[in-house]
Amino acid sequence: MERAEFLAKFGLGFAAVCTGCALASCGSKSSNPTPNGVVVGGAPSPPKTGSGNLFTVDLNSQLTQVGDSTVQSGVILVRIADGNTASAFTAVQVACTHQGTAIGYNTSQHIFICPAHGSEFSQSGSVLVGPAALPLHVYTVTIDSNNKLTVAA
Ligand code: FES
Repeated sequence: MERAEFLAKFGLGFAAVCTGCALASCGSKSSNPTPNGVVVGGAPSPPKTGSGNLFTVDLNSQLTQVGDSTVQSGVILVRIADGNTASAFTAVQVACTHQGTAIGYNTSQHIFICPAHGSEFSQSGSVLVGPAALPLHVYTVTIDSNNKLTVAA
């Protein structure tokens, strides 16, 4: 199955997930092609709780539209609603809990989808569809009065 065909099948209007990285071998983890040619593994390990601030985003110029996302420090941060409040964002580990492939956010379905084997996760990281059995780790989002968003573990 070609990449474009796969993306079309799963409706992955990915909101930007390490393009080229999620579907190709870019990490030191195992290259374990599935029958559909998707390479699993490769996403960075999720940061551990208590490791402090992971990264910041300036909301005056970044993630201004619902569905916008960024992947940094093993976390995918997605704007899920209008407004510059913490509840307008979700931040979860980018590595699928099944075999570590980088997940993406589907803006039309409002869920995270893993391109390797089709696991689906809610905006809050809970498993909606396996084979993943464990939820995604959720990170803390705070926003200061200057619209600087911080993701922390
Ligand atoms: S790596 Fe298998 S569903 Fe994500």
